[in-house]
Amino acid sequence: MKTIYFITSNKGKFSEAKEKLAAIDFEVVQKDLGYPEIQADTLEDVAIFGVNQLQNRVKHPFILEDAGLFIDVLNGYPGVYSSYVYHTIGCKGILKLLNEIEKAKRLAVFRSIFAYKEPNKKPVLFIGECHGSISTCEMGDHGFGFDPIFIPDGDTRTFAQMNVGEKNCYSHRGKSLDKLIDFFKK
Ligand code: IMP
Repeated sequence: MKTIYFITSNKGKFSEAKEKLAAIDFEVVQKDLGYPEIQADTLEDVAIFGVNQLQNRVKHPFILEDAGLFIDVLNGYPGVYSSYVYHTIGCKGILKLLNEIEKAKRLAVFRSIFAYKEPNKKPVLFIGECHGSISTCEMGDHGFGFDPIFIPDGDTRTFAQMNVGEKNCYSHRGKSLDKLIDFFKK
């Protein structure tokens, strides 16, 4: 069994990565090392900045991830500001912003960028997206962040009404991790 570090403080992200990578016999070890996150225009820039911050501190293959929720009628907001927005106005604030918006126009996409870094090698990025819509109220107790208000296309439940395996089948993170798994298989 191979071991890979996942540098994150987020237990939800860790559980999702652990579930996916167990399928190829990789053990994911959570390392809550704390590193500065820049406010950049793209998730890719945030991920690469994170790798640059960590590469001299971590002498073991590691992954880190940056993710965000992009809402169509809000021109992609909160996007790269998702963490700040979650911690300030949260799911309730997003529901308020969309109060007047009819169901068919509540479209959104979650994006995930994983960076994989091995010592003395360039980082490799893996991108995943999940299209869906914002619910009209919070539903479900599982997961984290905006999970209670995001319904992926192809289902009627929010991410927070799914277990980790179900969420991974649809989610942005499940998809970026699928690409990472393909990379490991090659
Ligand atoms: P981060 O900067 O990658 O930690 O993600 C930014 C924010 O997006 C987090 O604080 C979460 O609120 C939200 N987020 C990212 N991924 C997910 C997810 O899979 N479900 C729900 N919210 C998420």
